[in-house]
Amino acid sequence: MQAIFDSIITQLDASQGDVRRLFHGRGRCFPGYEQLVIDLLPPVVIVRLFAAHSQELIMQLDQFFQQLDGPSKPEAFVVQHRYRRENCVDVRWNHGTVDLERPLPVAELGLKYNVKPLKNQNSGLFLDMREGRRWVRHNSQGKNVLNLFAYTCAFSVAAVAGGAHNVVNLDMSRGALSTGRDNHRLNQLPTDRVKFLGHDLFRSWGRLKREGPYELVIIDPPSFQRGSFVASDDYRKVLRRLPELTTEGGQVLLCLNSPELGSDFLLQLMEDCCPTFVYCERITHPDDFPDRDPEQALKVLLFKKAV
Ligand SMILES: C[S@@+](CC[C@H](N)C(=O)[O-])C[C@H]1O[C@@H](n2cnc3c(N)ncnc32)[C@H](O)[C@@H]1O
Repeated sequence: MQAIFDSIITQLDASQGDVRRLFHGRGRCFPGYEQLVIDLLPPVVIVRLFAAHSQELIMQLDQFFQQLDGPSKPEAFVVQHRYRRENCVDVRWNHGTVDLERPLPVAELGLKYNVKPLKNQNSGLFLDMREGRRWVRHNSQGKNVLNLFAYTCAFSVAAVAGGAHNVVNLDMSRGALSTGRDNHRLNQLPTDRVKFLGHDLFRSWGRLKREGPYELVIIDPPSFQRGSFVASDDYRKVLRRLPELTTEGGQVLLCLNSPELGSDFLLQLMEDCCPTFVYCERITHPDDFPDRDPEQALKVLLFKKAV
């Protein structure tokens, strides 16, 4: 238990008011706590349980957060029982200033994003992609950017904040794209050069090609979404289209969060489908997501098309 408290204290300190994972048991660096993660969506702390845990553990965490003092003291404490189908969210305390039913604006690296603290899955921002967003912000100046599988357009917000000339966001979820539009407004970023295309990717190549070519392409699909995208089969279909979508010298950020498919999978696909692209680097993994095997964690790989 002390290891959990130590991680929470370290990450609260590092948070400086930003969203942060306080404890990441899923990375298997804390034996016995593989099914526990704790997120800070200031001012809300959310304990996410992927398997049943003792009441004792929940009580100890509850007390720990109640007795915190100073700027990092949370205002609300929520426990999600992700392994249950129903009644999975338990608001244990809320001192009243935050409406947990409404979108909550949270900060990361100077930008804001709306999240839904009570949502069981996909609360609006993937916290482990922080370094990817940082990279995009620093590498978008003046570029035409394509953001595939855009979800709530966090990459687009980072790109526009970093001076992108145009951004095309594509996602089959129009609801997520609508949150994406709000995320730009939340940061007072202009949207006149930002497009939000609500289609299945596999039906929209023509439109994407007309809006291109792109100097930066971001590809961040789900690992498995039944009927929509299965990485082991479908990633290849996307990469086959890359050469015609990308400018000479253009960059591509390939993302994959699947424990079964490592970097080798993406490197091999690129060799097969995009032989004129060279591998540059893997974007740093955030330190609040320690993982015993980095190949099972989120992979974010950068490639560049030869000139
Ligand atoms: C991992 S999330 C993307 C996260 C996002 N890039 C971010 O930075 O927050 C995966 C997204 O892919 C979308 N998606 C899945 N299959 C799709 C398809 N065939 N065409 C378009 N979008 C798809 C889902 O709607 C979901 O929003």
